Amino acid sequence: MDASSELQGFYKLTLEKRREVLKKATSLTDEEIKALANTGSLSPETADHMIENVVGGYTYPLGIATNFRINERDYLVPMALEEPSVVAAASNAAKMARAKGGFTVTNTGPVMIGQVQVVNVPEPEAAKAKLLKKRADLLQKANDQDPMLVSLGGGAKELNVKVLSTVKGPMVIAELIVNTGDAMGANAVNTMAEAVAPMIEEITGGRVFLRIISNLADRRLVKATAVFEKEAVGGEDVVDGVVYAYAFADADPYRCATHNKGIMNGVVAVGIACGQDIRALEAGAHSYASRSGKYKPLTTWGKNKDGDLVGTLEMPMAVGLVGGAAKTHPTARADIKILGVKTATELAEVMGAVGLAQNFAALRALASEGIQRGHMKLHSRNVAISAGATGVLVDLVAMRMVEEKKIRFDRAKELVAELSKERKA
Ligand code: MEV
Repeated sequence: MDASSELQGFYKLTLEKRREVLKKATSLTDEEIKALANTGSLSPETADHMIENVVGGYTYPLGIATNFRINERDYLVPMALEEPSVVAAASNAAKMARAKGGFTVTNTGPVMIGQVQVVNVPEPEAAKAKLLKKRADLLQKANDQDPMLVSLGGGAKELNVKVLSTVKGPMVIAELIVNTGDAMGANAVNTMAEAVAPMIEEITGGRVFLRIISNLADRRLVKATAVFEKEAVGGEDVVDGVVYAYAFADADPYRCATHNKGIMNGVVAVGIACGQDIRALEAGAHSYASRSGKYKPLTTWGKNKDGDLVGTLEMPMAVGLVGGAAKTHPTARADIKILGVKTATELAEVMGAVGLAQNFAALRALASEGIQRGHMKLHSRNVAISAGATGVLVDLVAMRMVEEKKIRFDRAKELVAELSKERKA
């Protein structure tokens, strides 16, 4: 931009005034300003309170994945994302899993880790022993911060202490192990970590810097499994193809990144729909995938004695139903109602099942006809819309491009002009 990005006092303005300033500072048209002003189901006031410098909203399409059966219960799964094929793929995978009972998912409980970093500790190993001796006092101090959580059975349960050797010398890291109940837990854990910091400085004689939750939520795992009948997935060759695809991801980080991305297509879409912190989910997933020192797939695929395909998924799933957008965003609240989940761990289990379904669908497609055919069909509609097609023209233009195997913006524009002329004639 040519104008200055220093918008003095921008944060103090109303949404409308901020849009005026933005319009002046950029070349946005009235129509473009209108497009970003729309806050959807959020009231402008709520949006303005959720983040800073709000000028409007941003809407994703919301789809419902069907056919999910998880732990012997049926679920309709809301998914918010921009990518075509994902909702259809999840629904299709869930349908195939049903023949063998659907998905079985367990979880390790809603346990998060809060880290307190102590530097300049005169005797790190002795400090570690002293901290562990004061374990009960430290846990008490942490739990005093959240009597409500404690009354519900949650709270700080354990204290871990480790001495790290770092590029800046040894550091003592005290870790609070906190059961966060139905909350994702970042607020509760960060408050606890900050509260115990002065005590930790006093006990260790060191200086505390960071006091923050870890997104490597390896004590908050979901473990999902499903069996896909070989006939249902397209035969032995497809089953073998999926197993080879897994082996490829296991051996090669370049493939593994894409493999895990496919899993996150499902996890993140449900996360967005339900108002979750998806950055935390991504951070947890990829750091967990790297826990051995090598980047590995979050799923495994093999065959059982009948030759059916067996998939497993294991990954952190730090989600919450209380606090955050899950409570303040009306669409997230409606989506959680659609799912009918009663606890954060139930939501985590559903998301694990969706991740496994999504991975299966991607590998199955990749191991057989490839993903582009189905993908391009859906993509062609987006291209048609961006070229100006509306109403019935969207499908007509999309179909023609698919037939011609030319799914391109320039061709869509030509077709929009051609077909709308024909329809008028
Ligand atoms: C596309 O969004 C996801 C896939 O690339 C996943 C995969 O390759 O496994 C299809």
